[in-house]
Amino acid sequence: MKLLVLGATGGTGLEIVRQALEHGHSVTALVRSPERLKPFQDRITIKQGDLLNSAELEQVIKGQDAVVSGFGPRVPVSKADANLLQQFAVALTSAMLHAGVRRVIVESVAFLFKDSIIPPAYLLGRLFFSGIVADSSAMEEVFAKSGLDWTIARPPELTDKPYTGKYRVREGHLPRFGFKISRADVADFMLKAVENHASSRKIVGICN
Ligand SMILES: NC(=O)c1ccc[n+]([C@@H]2O[C@H](COP(=O)([O-])OP(=O)(O)OC[C@H]3O[C@@H](n4cnc5c(N)ncnc54)[C@H](OP(=O)(O)O)[C@@H]3O)[C@@H](O)[C@H]2O)c1
Repeated sequence: MKLLVLGATGGTGLEIVRQALEHGHSVTALVRSPERLKPFQDRITIKQGDLLNSAELEQVIKGQDAVVSGFGPRVPVSKADANLLQQFAVALTSAMLHAGVRRVIVESVAFLFKDSIIPPAYLLGRLFFSGIVADSSAMEEVFAKSGLDWTIARPPELTDKPYTGKYRVREGHLPRFGFKISRADVADFMLKAVENHASSRKIVGICN
């Protein structure tokens, strides 16, 4: 498939790029800092640009089969990035609708699962990461109302542990005792969702 990876220089994004190449996909990345993708420079198309600019996004989205995103604010989140995910969602959904590309897989956060008891994800999020909860929630709402063919992955704490392929997936809920997942396993889930056209218009809890 022809995939546009966004947030490609981040922890999850680099795994998406690496695994997408392993799966034989043709990868394009739109990034603000191309030097971080040097290890892949001969194997992917790298475009530099503004990920909050709908017109720039539209140019690179045209002709792609799908968009896979590990985009998110760098932590600690600066005041300027308080609404970053929402701004990104508005720009991306508009660009995709204009470009006529409908499939998108987005990484959000398990803090939004209100019914999770162990861990008490929503409570922890509201107490310690209220800004991220508000911005991620606003982002999800934009995708949900977009009319696009979206899948939202909500992982709990991300780790840099290796790929296992052994993770749990639950539509609409965080699996019980879902405390952590490796970025590599999140990338695996996201690529399989795009390849198998799975979990269309679903919010999915994933954890190791
Ligand atoms: N950390 C956790 O435990 C956790 C848990 C659950 C969910 N999440 C969510 O999962 C997602 C991915 O997390 P991660 O830790 O893998 O990502 P990350 O390493 O923080 O990478 C974020 C990516 O977004 C890009 N980005 C950020 N601001 C940008 C901007 N203004 N313009 C262009 N690109 C920008 C970064 O580009 P640069 O390289 O140029 O900075 C990078 O590629 C995030 O949405 C995060 O909120 C995180």
